[in-house]
Amino acid sequence: MAPSLVTVPAVPGRRLEGKVAIITGGASGIGATTARLFVGHGAKVVIADLQDELGQSLCEEIGSKEVITYVHCDMTDDEQVKDLVDTTVANYGKLDIMYNNAGVPGDFPNALLNVENERFKKVMDINVYGPYLGAKHAARVMIPAKKGSIIFTASVSSVIGGHDVPHPYAASKHAVVGLAKNLCLELGQHGIRVNCVSPYVIASPMVTKLFGMEANQLEEMISQTATLKGAVLKAEDVAHAAVYLASDEASYISGINLVIDGGYTTTNPALPTILRGGKIP
Ligand SMILES: NC(=O)c1ccc[n+]([C@@H]2O[C@H](COP(=O)([O-])OP(=O)(O)OC[C@H]3O[C@@H](n4cnc5c(N)ncnc54)[C@H](O)[C@@H]3O)[C@@H](O)[C@H]2O)c1
Repeated sequence: MAPSLVTVPAVPGRRLEGKVAIITGGASGIGATTARLFVGHGAKVVIADLQDELGQSLCEEIGSKEVITYVHCDMTDDEQVKDLVDTTVANYGKLDIMYNNAGVPGDFPNALLNVENERFKKVMDINVYGPYLGAKHAARVMIPAKKGSIIFTASVSSVIGGHDVPHPYAASKHAVVGLAKNLCLELGQHGIRVNCVSPYVIASPMVTKLFGMEANQLEEMISQTATLKGAVLKAEDVAHAAVYLASDEASYISGINLVIDGGYTTTNPALPTILRGGKIP
């Protein structure tokens, strides 16, 4: 029998060529890094954020209005999110990727009796209701197109508790993964994929401000807690994961929570720490 001919599929260098994406919270941190990488991979990108100056200057730095634009959008406002999606479709013709990334950490101190009720609701509003609105308006235009990729930035705090993040943050990140799982079934009927990325700590403006540390100090501290040594988690690591989930290479990937933590959440160092004479708080 003649050997079968093995054809090697061409691997396109630009993995998002021709796609149109919205990145919420795209003016800073993980969102800004992802915007750069998406454009580098050939996508047209709309950044949605509240930080107008930062968002505008980032767009000017990355490229022309043909490839990237900034839209002021409070993701907790239904009308503004509707306009964001409609403006994107009007300017770029369609929407392939909705990356719901905007989020806030909540406040320290973390003790339950100190949590301000209104602040709890505010964090849930931005971290859960905002991504829900983003998904809803994206689905409105993706369903007729019968395709699309919706991505949420959750966190390792969607998988484990008790590592000193504010309570509303942990609750909101678990909730967003629950939302993604439920949407996965409904939107899957329309060819739309829904996934989460869940990073461990990255020295973004959100976190350096929260901890009151310089980026390098924070990275040094986080590296000491890491399960995987010799690597430092950067916003680029999340951006690469988002490129994959947004690309056709992930065409059968839906319903996952891609944890980007070097194994942090799958390990529990409590016993070895005690055995070596250390203390568990
Ligand atoms: N940095 C980390 O260690 C880390 C780890 C896990 C998950 N995350 C998540 O990653 C996402 C991005 O965080 P980051 O670290 O890049 O922080 P960041 O503060 O640098 O960026 C967040 C952006 O969201 C924007 N934003 C906040 N509320 C908004 C709203 N209502 N409407 C529109 N935009 C709004 C902010 O203006 C900001 O530009 C968040 O969802 C965060 O919870 C961060």
